[in-house]
Amino acid sequence: MEIIIRPTAAHAARLVARLVVARVHAKPQLVLGCATGRTMDPVYAELVAAHRAGTVDLSGLTTFNLDEYVGLPPDDPRSYRHYMREQLFEPVGLPPGRTHLPDAMAVDLAAAAAAYEQRIASVGGIDLQLLGLGATGHIGFNEPLSSLMSRTREKALTPQTRQQNAELFGGDPEAVPKRAVTMGVGTILDAREVVMLVTGAAKAGVLAAATEGPITARISATALQLHRRCVVVVDEAAAAGLEGTEYYRFIYAEEPEWAPYRADPAL
Ligand code: GLP
Repeated sequence: MEIIIRPTAAHAARLVARLVVARVHAKPQLVLGCATGRTMDPVYAELVAAHRAGTVDLSGLTTFNLDEYVGLPPDDPRSYRHYMREQLFEPVGLPPGRTHLPDAMAVDLAAAAAAYEQRIASVGGIDLQLLGLGATGHIGFNEPLSSLMSRTREKALTPQTRQQNAELFGGDPEAVPKRAVTMGVGTILDAREVVMLVTGAAKAGVLAAATEGPITARISATALQLHRRCVVVVDEAAAAGLEGTEYYRFIYAEEPEWAPYRADPAL
């Protein structure tokens, strides 16, 4: 795992977008794992801007989202399918057949979850998985005590998560669905590369636990410490609780792989 600290949330989001662009340049038919959440908004905005400017062509992507709320139809403005259509799929012209989210309206959710895993396998797996970090330390909707080997399945949401995500539901946590279908921690770890973006002072404590704390099912993001190729991009506010910042800053300032990025003042 590498932790990269940037001055602001905008710098951090631009760096994540730039990493995606670099991977698409290397492989135009990239299989991208997408995350939702407010943290990701500027990343998709940057990607759409780059696509429109002709810096990158994102129309060859195949995408798989982490999760979807149970019982929200795809055209519900609060569904993650709707969010993704608005933020990325339509602006870059992705055909619906190449954009995937778990089918959380299925009568048989277990069968739909298994089909999702098969679909990911059928395209050869996820090349790059984007992640945010939930207040409970979840990745996707892998709430505390999720098996670190779990696969896509239905999961009950914690009251804390429903509170955190209430904004889109008129501010009422009770209006947030109680369950979601989410990729498992094991599904996420199968991605060939993982990039997690964490910004804002409110995430400082959970970021430190996720990256520098012991691996535990109580915080599913700690499983990322086992991944061979995982970058965590954070802003200064989120980095406030980290102990190893001196080394993390050294990595970005000195390591050759980051040279093209640190040369750009926008990042
Ligand atoms: C939801 C999503 C997570 C996301 C989290 C953080 O719970 N299931 O994938 O990381 O929100 O949200 P935000 O970026 O709005 O803080």
